[in-house]
Amino acid sequence: MDKNWWKQAVFYHIYPKSFQDSDGDGIGDIRGIISRLDYFTALGIDAVWLSPIYRSPMVDGGYDISDYRDIDPLFGTLDDFRELLKQAHNKGIRIMMDLVMNHTSDRHPWFMESRSSVDNPKRDWYIWHAGHNGKVPNNWRTNFFERAWHRDEVTGHFYYHSFFKEQPDLNWRNEDMKRAFFEIFRFWLDMGVDGFRLDVVNLIVKDGLLRNNPITLNHSKIYNRNQPETYDILREFRILLNEYPGTTSVGEIYVFPCGNPKLAASFLGNGDDMLHMAFDFSLIFCTWNARKYFRAIQSYYKALPPAGQPCFFISNHDAGRSLSRFGRVRHTHEKAKLLTVMLLTLKGTPFIYYGDELGMTNARISRKQIRDPYGKKIWPIYRGGRDRGRTPMQWNDSESGGFTSGEPWLSLHRDFRKVNVENEIADEYSVWNTCRKMIELRKTLPSLQLGNIEFVETGHNGILAYTRTFDDQQVWIALNFSSRKQNLSRFSQNCQLLFSTRPKIVDTGKNLLYPFEAVVFTKEAALMPLSSSGIMKNPPI
Ligand code: NOJ
Repeated sequence: MDKNWWKQAVFYHIYPKSFQDSDGDGIGDIRGIISRLDYFTALGIDAVWLSPIYRSPMVDGGYDISDYRDIDPLFGTLDDFRELLKQAHNKGIRIMMDLVMNHTSDRHPWFMESRSSVDNPKRDWYIWHAGHNGKVPNNWRTNFFERAWHRDEVTGHFYYHSFFKEQPDLNWRNEDMKRAFFEIFRFWLDMGVDGFRLDVVNLIVKDGLLRNNPITLNHSKIYNRNQPETYDILREFRILLNEYPGTTSVGEIYVFPCGNPKLAASFLGNGDDMLHMAFDFSLIFCTWNARKYFRAIQSYYKALPPAGQPCFFISNHDAGRSLSRFGRVRHTHEKAKLLTVMLLTLKGTPFIYYGDELGMTNARISRKQIRDPYGKKIWPIYRGGRDRGRTPMQWNDSESGGFTSGEPWLSLHRDFRKVNVENEIADEYSVWNTCRKMIELRKTLPSLQLGNIEFVETGHNGILAYTRTFDDQQVWIALNFSSRKQNLSRFSQNCQLLFSTRPKIVDTGKNLLYPFEAVVFTKEAALMPLSSSGIMKNPPI
């Protein structure tokens, strides 16, 4: 088994409540995912990351876990999960769990014990403080913009919570807690999971002295995150994962409101001794501008240690769908294809958010329809909240889009009768087929999986262009972010087109890049035959 499979893999991120319902209760579940395994194979997906499916009161969509060793009945049972692992593995698909180290649910037995008295043995497993004359211990705020200390009536002391008050933060300075938590990792590793996505992992350790954060314009949060001790814990975590060859990890490096490549990269250590990969949020905050993407991508590469593996994502269950971030919803189809080509040709492991392969956009959600408590709280500043990017998967144009035979827990996006898997599979030039063909091309060309990347100056601000090189194979990628035709003659003489997002294979003699077009080509002079799918039959490897 190749223990570095994750460096070449294409990951797919599922928000389980919204992927596929199997029992008609309107909520996606594990059996539903099992029934869709062939879908991953058809698309070419290698690994699936599941947002949390553990037992949870669901105050925060499952990111409030009350039992880390069980599956929430909404999603099925442990046996269902074992079956998923077995069937996925039989098809060569890996499964990555989402694990929340920073906090538990307030219904977790550890917290119930911890809150019961000041001298309970688990008291120190969470972050407690008596307060200052009845006032909160310091000025820390939650990531949901509220006071982060909650006074618990049992003992009258305050506990710290980075998110909702129902999500008390664990104390990672407590060795007993740490040992107990590491057993949770083992539990899933022993069962055969292939890795973990670690939720807000840069938040897990807080300043030992609980110092006030400085009051600055950008509310710099320096004492309740990014503490040096986090690196030691991740080193231990990596040693544990190394006991299970072929497992991997990706950490969410949470920074608001934008990414921080240096910080994200720092959690990879020397590239081999902490996290395997780290999510930097810079691309999530890019506007539709080739130079902005270039700068964000370049800074991330520069920040990585030499052995560090980059990874990219452009949408997720919190930030919503990339296509909805670019102002007026125009040319979405073309833009979706361009972003797909970018994600699948950059050097690094791509993570596709479910439905992005169709070009799904954020849904309009009325205040009444919002299910996410954070969305309710922040209305109308953030209309629709996180639910707008969590709508059910659009499989076909039947009632409820093939997602459920019942009433969906959250309404489908109103475009589901047009934008859905069935339609897009049938349309050779759909976003879905762009995604499938690009994954296929990526698998065929070592340069796209493993090659070095170099950015190319094209003389046009609207074009992002780069090469990927492996041994003597070189592939060029040009992405036209602009709504104008661009002339590529300065760098595409004698090229062989491997892929274009345009329905007709462009006449390369003219070297024109059409509005929002993305192309992949080689500089080989010899023309190779193109298959009907637009991918070369025999690429010059
Ligand atoms: C980040 C998760 O992605 C988000 O959905 C959640 O609310 C917070 N962490 C708290 O767990």
